[in-house]
Amino acid sequence: MEKITKDFYLVEDWVDFDKSSLESISREYFTKKGMDAFVKKGNPHIIPHLVTTSIAHAYNVASIFKNNIQTLPLDRKLRILECGSGSGIFSRHFLIAAQDLGFLDRVELIVSDFSEQSLRHIKERKVLEGFTENEHYSFLVLNLLDASTAVNLDGDSVNLKEIDLAVLNYVMDALPMIPLAKNSDGLFSKQQIRILSKSDSEENDIINNTSYLASLIIEPRWEPYDVHSASDLEQEFFNVFSGLTASHSEGQQSRYSYGSLAALKSLNSILSDNGMIYIADIPSPLLTKKQNQHYMLFGNSKANYINEDLMISYLQSLGYSSLQKKEAGLARIILCKNDSATTNKKFREFFLNNHYLERFIEIFTMFQVIKDSSLSDVAKILLDKLLEIDNQSSLALTLQGSYHLLNKNYEKALELYKEAREIDFSAAWDLDYKISGTEMFI
Ligand SMILES: C[S@@+](CC[C@H](N)C(=O)[O-])C[C@H]1O[C@@H](n2cnc3c(N)ncnc32)[C@H](O)[C@@H]1O
Repeated sequence: MEKITKDFYLVEDWVDFDKSSLESISREYFTKKGMDAFVKKGNPHIIPHLVTTSIAHAYNVASIFKNNIQTLPLDRKLRILECGSGSGIFSRHFLIAAQDLGFLDRVELIVSDFSEQSLRHIKERKVLEGFTENEHYSFLVLNLLDASTAVNLDGDSVNLKEIDLAVLNYVMDALPMIPLAKNSDGLFSKQQIRILSKSDSEENDIINNTSYLASLIIEPRWEPYDVHSASDLEQEFFNVFSGLTASHSEGQQSRYSYGSLAALKSLNSILSDNGMIYIADIPSPLLTKKQNQHYMLFGNSKANYINEDLMISYLQSLGYSSLQKKEAGLARIILCKNDSATTNKKFREFFLNNHYLERFIEIFTMFQVIKDSSLSDVAKILLDKLLEIDNQSSLALTLQGSYHLLNKNYEKALELYKEAREIDFSAAWDLDYKISGTEMFI
């Protein structure tokens, strides 16, 4: 590797942000690592997914769907497409919620990801146990940037249509985006990056060394952006981006998230007449003129901050209506093919005024802070509140286990941790560690 300063080697020379190896590494990481990208054990850099895969979130999304169900056809199963399902835990919790809310028999959940490995892990590790494949759910290898290539796990192509709800939890952030900044002449500059390393090793096991991306130095610079020589997708959606940024002042940066627009275009073509798209993702931070950080790194994956306005503006141009809010660290957006749901008072109020998810995260966070048995009474109050929202997931069992551990009731704690491990292979908690730690007390 070329040494370019006293301390640093060049990993990748200046290249457009969206064409850099951050993209290809992220893609390889997800496709090869599968569900293990979300497993904490021995891995200090997991992809965060506690909020999106929580039972609280799944209930919330299932309730949103139920509030619109009267507008959907009665003569066929309703189809819910989870895109980029990752660990499959949201799917599991959504099916539980559908069962509890009484509409399980009316739906088929299509669990999809462009990572076939993830889907195979979900199947092999029985994440959806208790539900029946091809009755309650099915698997689909689906790349959102090219929905026409969708295949099932036998490799047979699947023609997707009449989707009544598409769910995208932390997926839009994984699709291509280039940061652009407005110039004084009204044109744009694009962000390029250069990647440096302190090590001269060419060998990088990105699947097992999950600290690899975090160990790199990523430098930005700005160069003129010529849309006419950009990729086909960038050209296709550029008028949406330039319309949205028309009033931007000189130097103002924004994210041209053309990958998310391509995904929305695909989803629009398969959505039923009263269908809707639900997005939960990393919100836009408040940008200052100097800010140039448009992404975060988790494990060996890059996650772009999304561009909510761009997505909404694109689908509005196709006649969609929308609702959005920020809650529990998430930007949450509902996009409906028509306005029958968004103008419905009950539906609007449920989505906009219900803070169930926020409450869940607050209670959970407070519970985490308690480490001392003198606060056992407070822990009990918090635990009971939390169980009112979630008494079925691995997380709920784990928290009950932690409560018993706090009270030195080791046998009970161990039983609950083991029960939790049975139903969540990607547990946000390192359950093996908790189990062996508790066993030492017995
Ligand atoms: C950050 S993870 C989120 C996983 C899960 N939805 C959650 O909330 O925990 C992003 C997921 O999107 C998938 N993904 C990335 N690019 C994709 C694409 N072009 N098409 C479909 N899935 C994609 C990845 O394999 C990964 O499972």
